[in-house]
Amino acid sequence: MDKGNLSVVSEFMLLGLCHSWNMQVLFLMIFFMLYLIIISGNIFITILIITDPQLHSPMYFLLANLSFIDMWLSSVTTPKMLTDFLRENKTISFGGCMCQIFFVHIFGGSEMGLLVVMAYDRYVAICKPLHYSTIMSLEKCIGLVATSWTIGFVHAMSQMIVIMQLPFCGPRELDSFFCDIPLVIKLACMDSYNLGILMNADSGVLAMTCFVLLLISYTYILLIVHQSSKTGASKALSTCAAHITVVVLFFGPCIFIYVWPLSITWVDKFLAVFYSVITPLLNPAIYTLRNKDIKSAMKRFRSYYMHSKGNS
Ligand SMILES: *[C@@H]1O[C@H](CO)[C@@H](O)[C@H](O)[C@H]1NC(C)=O
Repeated sequence: MDKGNLSVVSEFMLLGLCHSWNMQVLFLMIFFMLYLIIISGNIFITILIITDPQLHSPMYFLLANLSFIDMWLSSVTTPKMLTDFLRENKTISFGGCMCQIFFVHIFGGSEMGLLVVMAYDRYVAICKPLHYSTIMSLEKCIGLVATSWTIGFVHAMSQMIVIMQLPFCGPRELDSFFCDIPLVIKLACMDSYNLGILMNADSGVLAMTCFVLLLISYTYILLIVHQSSKTGASKALSTCAAHITVVVLFFGPCIFIYVWPLSITWVDKFLAVFYSVITPLLNPAIYTLRNKDIKSAMKRFRSYYMHSKGNS
């Protein structure tokens, strides 16, 4: 083919979540509410942990980081999806599309790394309680957080380097509500089948590696907790249960989309909603409603502000 004749695609068409107008209005209202809760809940958790000295421990620092990532992960796709509900032509510019891919993968990859770090933190706390403060020092914790960001960055860059070089010339319809790699690759004007497999393998290997590490560490933790009959066991168990819920709901959809060979459009779309809207919602929901330390920190926060208001 003569390259000079190819018209370059400058924007893509998103087909959105569904076609019916009524459903779109309904979804708009639901997702708008959920998004408000995601943003305010996660910002609140982050601020609470940073400002409350009693929550200054590796576990809560990691939780604050997770909330921070969740908020951004959701912000890459959700606002665009919300405004698109009202638009007939849901277009996205080429640059916008590339940005979405980059940020979804950098935040998604970092979140996976961070979940592994959180599991490691719990493993040390439960299985080696006497050495916890020496093993999980603040420097170590910062180092681990930095490592998860690095993993996310390297992963996202590796995807970008390939996808930026693909020629896009003809079809430009994406049957989803945001730009995701498996769909975008299909639009490239070349035989992209093998490339698609390779790029999915990139995400798939990352997701599977993290998932297996998480599986091993939580199985180990649960076995230890099961054997010991200490009083701390039930508290440890409830924290782990919260982590495991997040892990399953985050990795389940990712692994299905990137590792599962068959793709069924509506299932993929449904799962994409899961990791861009539902998982970011879980953190605030699980931790603010169930965690005692966070609950008492919230009480302190409230009384502190009531008090300062009373004084002024
Ligand atoms: C992330 O974790 C680091 C290291 O524990 C901590 O110093 C930092 O405050 C956390 N960042 C956020 C946004 O919570």
